[in-house]
Amino acid sequence: MKAKLKLRRVGKRAKQETSKVKASKGRRASKRAGGNWQDEVERVLITEEQIEQRIKTLAHAIERDFRGREMVVVSLLNGTVMFLADLMRHLNLPLRLDFLGVSSYGLGTESGELVYTKELRLDVRGRDVLLIDDILDTGKTLRHVLPKLRALKPRRVKICVLLDKPSRRVENVHADYAGFEIPDYFVVGYGLDFAERYRNLPFVGVLHPHVYKQGCKQICRK
Ligand code: PRP
Repeated sequence: MKAKLKLRRVGKRAKQETSKVKASKGRRASKRAGGNWQDEVERVLITEEQIEQRIKTLAHAIERDFRGREMVVVSLLNGTVMFLADLMRHLNLPLRLDFLGVSSYGLGTESGELVYTKELRLDVRGRDVLLIDDILDTGKTLRHVLPKLRALKPRRVKICVLLDKPSRRVENVHADYAGFEIPDYFVVGYGLDFAERYRNLPFVGVLHPHVYKQGCKQICRK
């Protein structure tokens, strides 16, 4: 069955919707997330409610495609934590879960050299793998991870990402399931970080340029 889902575009309309909910939902989120995110996050791009709805749709599509198969979910650390947890609770399928630790140690907003911080422990040979990442940006991470995974001889690998930023792509990689297609904004929250901060925000927000222009050192001292 064709697995590719129609992307939910975060365009002009969605921006209007998010700006409408900014005041009320933003206040609620700030209490839970803690910290002074309003000074650093320019605006909410995708609300908690939008994420929740979209994840249910993604989960249904994945269920349809994987039904009857022995599924292994492979999630890339660290950015997938929230997306994975929310997606998994809607997957009504027998599955096993493992993590692959991969990080690009770049400066500021640019991705750099890839380093593996954790290897897989489960055997994926002959299995149907759902590879989960939080964002597909340049595609360098998945371009690196896919051959490594395919060398373990799974039956098939399908890619699921919460966010897709096609305008930044330098590698020929596409997601079979993608939550939201977004423009080239530097986004944080819902697992995504800048200098390891903001992962706990329950929404996806646009980081204020003054933050990433300061660089990691300034932020990390706070
Ligand atoms: C981020 C993100 C993706 C990758 C996408 O990972 O989680 O894995 O970048 O970028 P790309 O398509 O340009 O390769 P990061 O290395 O920042 O680690 P993290 O998941 O711990 O935040």
